[in-house]
Amino acid sequence: MGKPKNLFKQDDLNWKHYSGGENFDYHIDYSDAVLDAREDGRLEILVKWEPNSFCHLHKHTAETSSVVLKGELHVSDFDVETGKETNKRIRKAGDFVHKEAGDIHMEKGGPEGALVLFMIYDPSGQGNLAKSITKSGKVISSSNIKNILKRISN
Ligand SMILES: [Fe+2]
Repeated sequence: MGKPKNLFKQDDLNWKHYSGGENFDYHIDYSDAVLDAREDGRLEILVKWEPNSFCHLHKHTAETSSVVLKGELHVSDFDVETGKETNKRIRKAGDFVHKEAGDIHMEKGGPEGALVLFMIYDPSGQGNLAKSITKSGKVISSSNIKNILKRISN
């Protein structure tokens, strides 16, 4: 880490791809590339959504700032009690937002997909970044800074 990276030069980055499957009623197709991560639980990560495709429904468990670099990110809050999406909005290139931990939402790339830079920090020191969940709120997987550090050390 520490070497300059151009975030628009996709080939220079180490992408990990994710897709859904039969268990999901929405189309999942996205990738992420870790830019930097530190033991204290700080992470910068680039996420790329394919056109009209979602990432897994998730809950942020850390403070998260993000800026859309390319395309459009369609975001809606999700209520696991009712199973309904609310407060839909479209974030365009240049749009920045900071969120405290706790947000549950769906995120989908627009017609040309989306490229978004995330800066994440869990002030508790536990390094808990986010949890993928089902629409009824069951945890599918958890992302922790320890997994991320392990991933980039390989
Ligand atoms: Fe999110």
